Amino acid sequence: MIIKVGVIGAGVMGAEHARLLSSVVSDAEVTAVSDPDAKRLAEVVETCGTARAFADPLELIRDKSVDAVLIASPDQTHAALVLACLEIEKPVLCEKPLAATAEECLRVIAREEVLKRRLVTAGYMRRFDPGYLEMKRRLDEGDLGAALVMHCIHRNVASSPFATAAMLISGSAVHEIDIARFVLAREVQRVTVVTPRKTSLAAIQDPQIIFLEMEDRVVVEAEIFVNAQYGYDVRAELVCEKGTITLTPPHDVTVAQAAGESFSFPGDWRARFAHAYRAELQAWVDGLRGNAPSGASAWDGYVATAVADAGLKSLATGQPQAVNLAPRPGLYA
Ligand SMILES: NC(=O)c1ccc[n+]([C@@H]2O[C@H](COP(=O)([O-])OP(=O)(O)OC[C@H]3O[C@@H](n4cnc5c(N)ncnc54)[C@H](O)[C@@H]3O)[C@@H](O)[C@H]2O)c1
Repeated sequence: MIIKVGVIGAGVMGAEHARLLSSVVSDAEVTAVSDPDAKRLAEVVETCGTARAFADPLELIRDKSVDAVLIASPDQTHAALVLACLEIEKPVLCEKPLAATAEECLRVIAREEVLKRRLVTAGYMRRFDPGYLEMKRRLDEGDLGAALVMHCIHRNVASSPFATAAMLISGSAVHEIDIARFVLAREVQRVTVVTPRKTSLAAIQDPQIIFLEMEDRVVVEAEIFVNAQYGYDVRAELVCEKGTITLTPPHDVTVAQAAGESFSFPGDWRARFAHAYRAELQAWVDGLRGNAPSGASAWDGYVATAVADAGLKSLATGQPQAVNLAPRPGLYA
């Protein structure tokens, strides 16, 4: 059975997902693409063989040529599109964040509870990155003792001209929030955002340091710096009682030259997490074929956004903010 996927959003991520689904993901094909930008739409349709173009994403969702939907349109559009998929019980992989607010995420969860089925996957692809998976495996093995502290770095070359200080949390730090929950298997109880001296190379407050106080007083400290200039750079070190686990920089070669040794950073997330995106999509398609949900659930999507919301309050007030989650429904046990 080939899973026929409709891709909503033909920008950077939609184009990348459509390319992967059409080329390297087994048992999937892209049959439909939607974007209000006719030029981008035509370009992505062109790369997908026989896919059809839809100006209206709701029409794409309803179309009989679409078994499952991948949403890669802007954050504010996610909730309505995911709910439209659930309305007709079509599985959906929604890029992070699941929705722009925690309230919208809860509406998605309420709908899945009515259906008594998990149809939603939230696109937190770091859960498929070999480095984070190995970090989790080594922690769970137990030889290193308990996890105490996790240091994270998330740097981009430059933010878009439309970026806001809030987007460092709602758009970038949500990845650290999700992967910390995944690796540590603990919930976040309190969030504090600290604002150091800002770079003169951007108008927004950048960088920001985010502290996540997790259950059992495990602390995650994440530097988010989206105008770091030199490359896309994601790092993590987990400090445990008897040692540390550190992600190794994912480069293929180092070059020794002129009395120095160097390697290159990728320009953005697509190259850094190429394996993770591909594995995420393959797991999604395999899960649809086998009727077993994969990846981050709607609940995980809700929690990441709820923690980010607390972070936004801390950014605004300068004070630590407690995270108060809704009760976890049995569907996500
Ligand atoms: N998982 C990751 O690592 C990762 C990385 C980057 C972006 N993202 C997420 O992916 C999503 C897309 O980001 P992007 O960088 O590709 O943005 P983008 O601006 O490059 O592309 C978004 C596209 O959506 C289109 N669009 C706008 N409204 C639409 C609608 N109602 N229906 C269909 N298409 C619509 C736009 O015309 C544009 O082509 C965002 O939610 C973003 O947060 C995730």
